[in-house]
Amino acid sequence: MNVKRIGVLTSGGDAPGMNAAIRGVVRTALYYGYEAFGIHDGYKGLVENNIVPMKRNDVGQIINRGGTILGSARMESFKQLAVREKAIENLKNLGIDALVVLGGDGTYRGAQELTKMGINCIGIPCTIDNDIASTDYTIGFFTALDTAIWAIDKLRDTSFSHQRCTVVEVMGRYCGDLSIYSGIACGAEIVITKETGYDRDSVIEQVKKAKAKGKRDCIVVVAEHILDVFALAKDIDDNCGYETRATILGHIQRGGTPSSYDRILASKMGSYAVELLRQGLGGQAVCANGIEIFHLPIEEALTQNKPTTDLYQFLEKLN
Ligand code: F6P
Repeated sequence: MNVKRIGVLTSGGDAPGMNAAIRGVVRTALYYGYEAFGIHDGYKGLVENNIVPMKRNDVGQIINRGGTILGSARMESFKQLAVREKAIENLKNLGIDALVVLGGDGTYRGAQELTKMGINCIGIPCTIDNDIASTDYTIGFFTALDTAIWAIDKLRDTSFSHQRCTVVEVMGRYCGDLSIYSGIACGAEIVITKETGYDRDSVIEQVKKAKAKGKRDCIVVVAEHILDVFALAKDIDDNCGYETRATILGHIQRGGTPSSYDRILASKMGSYAVELLRQGLGGQAVCANGIEIFHLPIEEALTQNKPTTDLYQFLEKLN
């Protein structure tokens, strides 16, 4: 199939670097003489026909901007065939033959279904969670990590001043990467994630040990969805000899200027996605292995298991 018109959308939780990827797609498409279209608010915009042509200048001055200029949304009803048929109808009416979709697992599933329905789609991994097994790192992960580190360093300052323990909840959906990476980078005493599991008595013991070692302060990083950080802070306060506070970092981790790594990765992946469409491919996920960019069928990308990072082995030794 000869591609003439390429659409791009961002879906799911936004991630720093999405704009750099949009720019990579649009500029590469225009470079090859294709027309480019931006779809607003993810799959919702596709169904509601909120689709606009994009020119060179529409993606100027965005490589450094957080969030997504196209807007993003999660759309449960896109799993329904009738809803997707509406999307296909809108694309056909505009003559858009191919799509690049930026997002996580849910976004990939939508792309796979649309490819089966005749529109070639390429998925680019964009999420702060780093929970896509087929790629070493997702676009947005390192920027969100830097934000978490920035915040935890500040919590360390005040914890030191007041001889406190701070329990800090870090985002990441059901993946512990943002927690363990930020924990290592901030010298956290304890990290609790799905990968470590939560054993209350062992955590209390470890905090007591930190106190016994003479540490003025103690940082406990907890991945979201594991436990109530305020309850744990009270437990530590009651039992470990540290006055304790809890902080939830939340959505602050999703915003901000993308890091150098995310800008470069996003630019390469955006451009590469257009190359795949140019070769007539669809239903593919763009992946990164070290500095190499490659692709896998979305079907395969979605069934892979993510290996656990070796960082967990270092935490105890570094304390
Ligand atoms: O997937 C990105 C993410 O920020 C997760 O880390 C978090 O669990 C979720 O999205 C939050 O979603 P929402 O913005 O819909 O509250």
